Amino acid sequence: MPQESPAEPGGVRRLLRSLPVFAFDLPDFRPGTAPDEPVSLFVEWLMSAIEGGVFEPHAMTLSTADEGGRPSARVLICKDVDDEGNWYFASSAAGRKGHELEANPHAALTFYWPQQGRQIRVRGPVTTAGAERSAADFLARSPGARAEALSSRQSQVLDDPAEAEAALRTALDRINAEPDLVAADWTLYALAASEVEFWQADAQRRHTRLRYERTGGDWIRHLLWP
Ligand SMILES: Cc1cc2nc3c(=O)[nH]c(=O)nc-3n(C[C@H](O)[C@H](O)[C@H](O)COP(=O)(O)O)c2cc1C
Repeated sequence: MPQESPAEPGGVRRLLRSLPVFAFDLPDFRPGTAPDEPVSLFVEWLMSAIEGGVFEPHAMTLSTADEGGRPSARVLICKDVDDEGNWYFASSAAGRKGHELEANPHAALTFYWPQQGRQIRVRGPVTTAGAERSAADFLARSPGARAEALSSRQSQVLDDPAEAEAALRTALDRINAEPDLVAADWTLYALAASEVEFWQADAQRRHTRLRYERTGGDWIRHLLWP
């Protein structure tokens, strides 16, 4: 339990300063033995996050920016990663992130797995994976999740929660009647990584950073100062 009370003047600052970071038994990362490309290292780290008990290790922060360069970020589920270095996520194209990606089709993803002290950053251009794959992603969702996506006017102001409840019930009825129904704005997006950075914490702050950069069809690797 924290010793500091946030109710005292300056208490929040002291509370935050008192919280530990990198408190777990952290694994070793030897960049010299890292593979030539980042996808297999991502999968290796993901597996060790799953085996190490990280909750929702497939949750990642997606950062986008509007046409004026103003950023926004939110957490999404990573749907897939392929050998070509594409990271996939799915959402409504009609909300804020959809509009920002349409105006400025570049984004960044951040994974953080505290039990291993590992952060992975991915950056690159974003395209839509096409109607067929978007529909397949939508149809793989549970009926409740499909109804939520079908009924939602994601990111718009909600004046009355009862309106959302009613829309959800209507959408559930539609989905039960038409199991192949797909929400028109549901989109599977692919971020084609141009950079992938692996960051391994060290309790003594000798953190290790390894960045892969795509040059043409090849990946080059650099260590970065922490
Ligand atoms: C763990 C977690 C997983 C989420 N997964 C998704 C997702 O896969 N797709 C999605 O559209 N929103 C997901 N959300 C909700 C988003 O964080 C966000 O609230 C929503 O997409 C609206 O974002 P926008 O207004 O920037 O468009 C998730 C939220 C959390 C906390």
